[in-house]
Amino acid sequence: MADRRSFLSSLGALSAAGFMAPKALAQGMRAARGGGDPVVPRGLATAADILLEPGLTYLQTGSLGPTPRPVMERTIAVWRELELDPTSQGYGPIETAMEQVRAKAAAFMGCATDELVLTRSTSEGLNWVAQGISWSAGERIITTDQEHPGGRACWDWVARKYGVHLDVVAIPPGENNPAAIIEQFAVRLTPKTRVFAFSHLLTSTGLRMPVAELSALARRAGCMSVVDGAQAVGGVAVDVHALGCHAYATSGHKWLLAPKGTGVLYLARDLAGRVDPIALQSGREAYTASSGVTSLPSVHGLAAAIAYHEAIGTAKIEAHNLALGRYLWDALVQVPKVRVVSAAPGPLASPLLTYELPRDVHAGDLQQRLLLKHRVLVKVVPTNFLIGHRISTHLFNTERDVDALIAALRAELG
Ligand SMILES: Cc1ncc(COP(=O)(O)O)c(C=O)c1O
Repeated sequence: MADRRSFLSSLGALSAAGFMAPKALAQGMRAARGGGDPVVPRGLATAADILLEPGLTYLQTGSLGPTPRPVMERTIAVWRELELDPTSQGYGPIETAMEQVRAKAAAFMGCATDELVLTRSTSEGLNWVAQGISWSAGERIITTDQEHPGGRACWDWVARKYGVHLDVVAIPPGENNPAAIIEQFAVRLTPKTRVFAFSHLLTSTGLRMPVAELSALARRAGCMSVVDGAQAVGGVAVDVHALGCHAYATSGHKWLLAPKGTGVLYLARDLAGRVDPIALQSGREAYTASSGVTSLPSVHGLAAAIAYHEAIGTAKIEAHNLALGRYLWDALVQVPKVRVVSAAPGPLASPLLTYELPRDVHAGDLQQRLLLKHRVLVKVVPTNFLIGHRISTHLFNTERDVDALIAALRAELG
């Protein structure tokens, strides 16, 4: 009861500060009263842990995941502790305990603690890598045309600033052949190539990129393999050592369901000084002179989010997400006017699934109708790639969510 009171008062404080619209506040309070009975399951979660607005079918974890109640409560508890004496706590036990968060995140990702750095996002981690390399004009990077702007911006920046060239592999919608993709990287290799920069799961279609094979190719050629794992960690099991890449950045706020503004960056030990970002000049600890103070409660929330995943089990979560994806795939192929462009159920499928819409359908308008009329939230895929939507299925989603999407699509597409 005390917990619920403190949660509500924290919502009230946000509202008073003008940060939360009254409707959202009311919805948050409804959710805080309990989206459901603690023992009623919602996918692999319990209904009461999922604070989504009642009635909302949320298929947008690939953009931002909903933080479960225990994770949020832990975050708020640390915040309360911090505010009792910010200096003593923030430069004392709460800061020291962030090292345990680092260790926990490292174990979760399959690496050593000294190979892991806490960041605020995938984009930040990748920026640190790109800016931490000593570039010379004429050097080259191989990337793809399917990188998210947050993952691509840093490579565009080094290209502009240092005269580095980007060799871009095109991965068209429906391309689900990893061997063809590896070949596209191989033919672009030159003695000047220094980095392979690509996503683990493509943000556009969810295609699982052949990370281990591409990393092995990069290593054989003396290049660095830098992976954008924003769409992978939390939704599927990830072991960075097994993948063999040199660097791997991910976010807490998507599939890990952690507080927004959290992330981690893996830098392999054998990089041996080849990546030397200014942000890590004073060391890789959670707090250093070069990193400065971070959002301490959110970092502790990240550990709680990892614990939440561990309590369910990553293998179980991945199996659930893929089974739901298969259920969705089977249903979508029966819906007139949509064409699924993601990999068929099997080794290349992931918890992201994208369908293309006919040219005469406006993907953004349809997304709005799905939301406003049917309370189903999907993502519009960037239109320079295709006209369509991306669906995320995560641990709190159920077949009912998929049924709701299919019914809404049938109603709107006729
Ligand atoms: C593949 C990929 N990379 C990077 C990002 C950006 O993530 P962040 O906001 O955590 O930097 C996204 C966000 O959707 C993404 O899908």
